[in-house]
Amino acid sequence: MKALILVGGFGTRLRPLTLSVPKPLVDFANKPMILHQIEALKAIGVTEVVLAINYQPEVMLNFLKEFEKKLGIKITCSQETEPLGTAGPIALARDKLIDGSGEPFFVLNSDVISEYPLKEMVNFHKGHGGEASIMVTKVDEPSKYGVVVMEETTGKVEKFVEKPQIFVGNKINAGIYLLNPSVLNRIELRPTSIEKEVFPKIAAENKLYAMVLPGFWMDIGQPKDYITGLRMYLESLRKKSSAKLSTGSHFVGNVLVDESAVIGDGCLIGPDVAIGPGCIIESGVRLSRCTIMRGVRIKKHTCVSNSIIGWHSTVGKWARLENMTILGEDVHLGDEVYSNGGVVLPHKEIKSSILKPEIVM
Ligand code: GDD
Ligand code: MG
Repeated sequence: MKALILVGGFGTRLRPLTLSVPKPLVDFANKPMILHQIEALKAIGVTEVVLAINYQPEVMLNFLKEFEKKLGIKITCSQETEPLGTAGPIALARDKLIDGSGEPFFVLNSDVISEYPLKEMVNFHKGHGGEASIMVTKVDEPSKYGVVVMEETTGKVEKFVEKPQIFVGNKINAGIYLLNPSVLNRIELRPTSIEKEVFPKIAAENKLYAMVLPGFWMDIGQPKDYITGLRMYLESLRKKSSAKLSTGSHFVGNVLVDESAVIGDGCLIGPDVAIGPGCIIESGVRLSRCTIMRGVRIKKHTCVSNSIIGWHSTVGKWARLENMTILGEDVHLGDEVYSNGGVVLPHKEIKSSILKPEIVM
């Protein structure tokens, strides 16, 4: 089987992290977002992943070459010369997706995280005999998403409405699809939206089916949702493979620490924290609900909550970071600095406090 991952878009909502790498390469729970997906696809027997991309393909490919070998899966790029939306890239990659077997292929949004129940999805797809399957999940705020109205028992989709202005339902498109090759005949090679132009038509012909996604789901394309997503991911890890989580008197709740990270005496870490490779957390540090990316140093007695600290940054001693503070790559924050929601661009040195949420250029 093959899969296409929609990798385009500039990831503006996840700046300043996406000023350093394309959104799918931003680390989530200690590995690039896209690796979570590629590993899940590989696990159910997908042999080739096509990345539909519209900028910086070299960065992406260089990075993924290493994993192509490690995981034993073919990874190729299909590059647009202009953004083709969420459907156009599928038409562009047509020749890569069709292999004569008649098998369906996966399409994934690159910024969603879940337990990826892909095997269940294949079985569901085979069972209903329609043309396309989509995964749906329930959310409290459906207006930010594509809303799906379906027949509960069969899963047949009656209506698909992208970002509805008025309430239609609370089951939303989770951004994980399984499509028969015939769907390619419905998509033109031009900028076009699968949500607005393709799914509503397949639904009108009664050939679109939806499966309610078991387990957690989150679109982690913006900082607040990224932090919530980490909480959900770690909770699911606790249930599935709790041995990966840290234990001991330093830790409260679910905490994921790379084995190469060093943690000093008297720290209290958790809940809902990820600490990446090579990080140094000095003594007496307090961390909760945050992500500390590869190569970061946090000096003594600092407190970080609800924040993301980008690659290779340093935070001085007795500092306090909270309220969605995001440090880009290689930011250096002085001793005793306070940040209340500061968003700091890469390669900056910050010596004075950031008292209210703002972007520091
Ligand atoms: N190659 C390519 N080219 N990819 C693109 C382009 C493009 O022009 N535009 C967007 N993408 C990719 C994004 O990188 C992302 O992986 C996916 O397509 C969806 O785009 P988003 O910009 O993240 O859309 P959204 O989050 O507002 O809404 C989508 O996702 C929701 C679930 O998170 C829709 O699919 C909704 O229906 C869905 O509920
Ligand atoms: Mg999104």
